[in-house]
Amino acid sequence: MNSILDVAAIKRDFPIFSQEMRGGKRLVFLDSGATSQKPIQVMDAERNFYSTNNAAVHRGSYLLAERASEAFEGARDRVAQFIGAQSHEIVFTKSATESLNLLAVSLERTTGSLQVSEGDEIVVSELEHHANLIPWQELAKRTGAVLKWFEMNEDGSLNLSKIDQIITSKCKVVAITHQSNVLGSVPDIAPIIAAAHAVGALFVLDGCQSVPHQPVNVQALDVDFLVFSGHKALGPTGIGVLWGRQELLSQMEPFLYGGSMIETVTMTDSTWAEAPKRFEAGVPNMAQAVGLAAALDYLDVVGLSKIHQWELHLTNLALKGLKEIDGVKVIGPQGLENRGGVISFTIAGLHPHDIGQVMDQYGVAVRTGHHCAWPLIRKLGLTGTTRASFYLYNDESDVEVFLESVAGARDYFGNR
Ligand code: ALA
Repeated sequence: MNSILDVAAIKRDFPIFSQEMRGGKRLVFLDSGATSQKPIQVMDAERNFYSTNNAAVHRGSYLLAERASEAFEGARDRVAQFIGAQSHEIVFTKSATESLNLLAVSLERTTGSLQVSEGDEIVVSELEHHANLIPWQELAKRTGAVLKWFEMNEDGSLNLSKIDQIITSKCKVVAITHQSNVLGSVPDIAPIIAAAHAVGALFVLDGCQSVPHQPVNVQALDVDFLVFSGHKALGPTGIGVLWGRQELLSQMEPFLYGGSMIETVTMTDSTWAEAPKRFEAGVPNMAQAVGLAAALDYLDVVGLSKIHQWELHLTNLALKGLKEIDGVKVIGPQGLENRGGVISFTIAGLHPHDIGQVMDQYGVAVRTGHHCAWPLIRKLGLTGTTRASFYLYNDESDVEVFLESVAGARDYFGNR
């Protein structure tokens, strides 16, 4: 056991690590940036919901429906507590992508000061995942609003030198990532949040790569909206979160229409329930919400600060090792400052997909390509990178195999 986390004990909770990969190799899973593995506690929570509580929430008057509603609303309370929010500020969606689409559509439909319309400005950055870019691009196209962005520097930070020109009095929304999914860089968001609020704009934080890995508190951050996905935080797929300030959510128009989200309905018109229900049309992903609550319990028991510290320790070892391998170039931040546990790299003359395939022969799972952030990759003059992302179930021996597999990929293609 290392002094920060008992990774051996953690790993025993994750059944996926008990199988062999190609050639009898053990699994070295370094793709948690894409999706995390699931502990048995999360699977049990979902199974338990289906075996003992399954019924459509907020509808039936029978015991199971009551239990299902309690479990679902309990999950909402758990998510709220995890990020320092109020329960009625938590909207369950199917993914962070859906949360961002919800926002972009709702801010078009909502009349009054929140509405994004012609001539307004929307600000993003070159670091964004497609999910925090395309919904805003499309909103700008539909409304005649103007999309602006912060450029990135080579080290993965944002160039804030023109902040006053980028965030002007016309700005309505600023949507920025908390941590780049490609480079692991952590942009300096505090001055951007301050600039957005100084002109009355809303600040949307994409927490997909931060909420699962470090303590995140929406009050301390002073943001207006936060999105994250369950499946990157040890939770099930099919569950995402949108947190918004209550005074904002209560003014906003729905995204999807249907059952559960209404106050009254006639043949010609309808009115909406209070938030968050007005944003949760249809029977929600109940078992997945309960599974997410179990995942957040798990993360809290291990400790988010410890997880963050451990990931940085592994990242440090990996960065040092990569520097020793000829032909390897780390893309983005070179050290631990302003970064999380994600490393992108290239090997001179090799395609990322080829690198990934050789690494797979060592049992190492990494992501290759543009990582759903094509403008970022293009800005760096690349076609793609190979990306390793660490989580609480990785240890120092994983870093060793990772480095061996990178050297192996370089050697396999004769690039010594
Ligand atoms: N957004 C996920 C990633 O970065 C899929 O890999």
